[in-house]
Amino acid sequence: MIKINMPIKDNSYDVLIKRGLLSNIDNYIDINRQIVIITDDFIPKRYLNTLREKINNPIVFEVPQGETSKSMEIAYSIISDMIDSKITRKCLVIALGGGVIGDLAGFIASIYMRGVDFIQIPTTLLSQIDSSIGGKVGINSQSMKNAIGTFYQPQLVLIDPNTLKTLSQREFNNGIAEMIKYAMIADKSLFQDLYDGNVLSNIELYIEKCINIKRNLVIKDVFDNKERQLLNYGHTIGHAIEQYSNYSLLHGESISIGMTLMSKKYDFFVDLVKLLQKYDLPHVYEYDKDKIYGFIQTDKKASMSMLNIILVDEIGNGFIKPIKIEKIKEYL
Ligand SMILES: NC(=O)c1ccc[n+]([C@@H]2O[C@H](COP(=O)([O-])OP(=O)(O)OC[C@H]3O[C@@H](n4cnc5c(N)ncnc54)[C@H](O)[C@@H]3O)[C@@H](O)[C@H]2O)c1
Repeated sequence: MIKINMPIKDNSYDVLIKRGLLSNIDNYIDINRQIVIITDDFIPKRYLNTLREKINNPIVFEVPQGETSKSMEIAYSIISDMIDSKITRKCLVIALGGGVIGDLAGFIASIYMRGVDFIQIPTTLLSQIDSSIGGKVGINSQSMKNAIGTFYQPQLVLIDPNTLKTLSQREFNNGIAEMIKYAMIADKSLFQDLYDGNVLSNIELYIEKCINIKRNLVIKDVFDNKERQLLNYGHTIGHAIEQYSNYSLLHGESISIGMTLMSKKYDFFVDLVKLLQKYDLPHVYEYDKDKIYGFIQTDKKASMSMLNIILVDEIGNGFIKPIKIEKIKEYL
């Protein structure tokens, strides 16, 4: 078992990584309480069934798979049903799924009765290495991704890498895009391993590596004002492209394009493109520059006139650079 502690002030919690963890959930949580499970309708039923076998009468909410479930309508409808079902503030909310479910369930847990206990059980590679830790939870507005949200740390993150066996190749590669991001900002050897090695056969170790990179940034800057922003490499343009594509591009695919655009001027550009291609991740996309710029102007991370962009000058070395917002056009 791999155990990583997230020593966040007043909210310290563990991330546990082990194959088969899901079948032993009763060893890690108190199953004799009101438990709400939020999941989506595309995740293989075997994972939910495993939880049902262990937990006494959980209340299950199954939302449609995909980004559109990160909406106010869905959050409100679940909250209303929880109130009608007399779920008390002593309940536990479990997010069983990918980043969409983690963000949605965490958001609901953070506002239901002013906040209830919350556990993440991430089932995609992207959510296991990234979205399930660090406490950013939220939903999208009509016009802005992640526009409505809170910082709300889970009490525990349970990662069972066996769940990755049922993930489609496209979704697996979507997670690899975030792994490439970690390599770019902080770990050159990870970049090489991704290029040379068979990541899948050793996936626990790579999940651990990525979580440790994120952990070290998050514990320095929980509220994303400084060091944590390094994790946004490729994301400022990536989020804009994701919205522009109307979510036909996955999150990791969009940030792959974002990372490529931020790297055009650097020597490692060709190596980055080769690595993205190895995992069938896109590095080019046709878009309307003015529309992308419009999305960037409304990005949460932009102030009225300035924007912190993340650059990498050599693989493994990311840094933050404040620029005038219009300067981002040079990267488009
Ligand atoms: N909170 C954060 O810090 C943070 C960080 C990065 C990304 N995100 C968010 O995460 C979301 C993307 O997450 P994602 O890539 O996990 O997408 P997702 O949650 O939509 O999951 C992708 C697909 O995989 C399916 N799936 C999930 N687990 C499966 C399994 N084990 N086997 C087979 N299919 C499975 C889902 O049904 C879905 O269709 C975005 O909304 C993004 O904004 C949040």
